[in-house]
Amino acid sequence: MTDSLNQLRKAIVIVILSLILTCEGGALESDVKEKIEVLALDIISYDDFVQGDAKAINALQRALHEKGIVGIKGVPGYKEKVLKFIESAREFSALPEEIKESYAPNHSLGETFLGYEKGKERFKRPDGRWVIDDLKVSYYGFVPDNPLNKWPLEVNLRTPFQDLGALMSETGKAVMEKIGLLGSNTGIDIDNAPRMGRMLYYCKNENSAVENPFWCGAHFDHGVFTALLPAFYFINGEAISEPIEAGLFVKTTLEGVFKKVVADDPEVLLFQVGEFGQLATNDAIKATEHRVHKASGCVERYTMALFFDAPMESVIHSHSELTQDPRYGANPGGACSYRHWHEESFKRYIVKEEN
Ligand SMILES: [Fe+2]
Repeated sequence: MTDSLNQLRKAIVIVILSLILTCEGGALESDVKEKIEVLALDIISYDDFVQGDAKAINALQRALHEKGIVGIKGVPGYKEKVLKFIESAREFSALPEEIKESYAPNHSLGETFLGYEKGKERFKRPDGRWVIDDLKVSYYGFVPDNPLNKWPLEVNLRTPFQDLGALMSETGKAVMEKIGLLGSNTGIDIDNAPRMGRMLYYCKNENSAVENPFWCGAHFDHGVFTALLPAFYFINGEAISEPIEAGLFVKTTLEGVFKKVVADDPEVLLFQVGEFGQLATNDAIKATEHRVHKASGCVERYTMALFFDAPMESVIHSHSELTQDPRYGANPGGACSYRHWHEESFKRYIVKEEN
């Protein structure tokens, strides 16, 4: 019964997508000709998770190993914090550009990325060309709060960002412990390392470079683990459901195809695996390749991600296939610090000022 429902769901998605592409034409048509397949997202109840329910823990483990993503539903207080955060993210995004820019890092003072950022990441397309995610806007801040963080004076972004970030951090750490990303299994202890929170706002598609059909190109997060919200969408200030052609797509580890993650539920907190998690577990768990497809028309998208970094001084001696990546900087079994991996990853993906 479930299989036939899934088949029906897939067929409907393909028909709807065909209609959208027929009506809209343009950049999306040429680049997203593949059929949209919907991922069967596993969503675990938070109560089952904290009670250590064997079936739930098994489902969580399997989902992260085979699909690279899992949802946990019903974390106490989560939905309220999410809604407050989205409200403040929208207020901040509505400020005049020159005010928002005043919260961007001052590179001449050596500041790197805390605060406001617009269109600074680049991604390699399957044809080898690099493109800049020109519609992606971010606001970065450490969680817990830190004197290095910048916060706007015009809008209280700080409190909802920190409140939500703390809950994502606590829940994510519990998941990481459960799947063996921390402690004696990997030698990684994140208690003394801050998380990096990132508000994400994807602007309307109207004036973007036509060569990029993605709000965010395919990539792996380079850290250990990532927590993220299901996204919120708006047209002219009105909330809408997630458009079928848009949103988060993950490449499943087992099948190797990008599938759409349907998680239109503010009660769900999502988790993905990062590259350093794969390195530290010697490929026992694989990093999640993912991308964000643009919506057609004047749709805006908001979300938040929380990145779990290892302490910068953490050193691993990995035998993962990822040691072949030049960012590792050593042979399999050789030493690589998180600082080295982190800095090399930034060099690869961040657009330099002169570009
Ligand atoms: Fe990502």
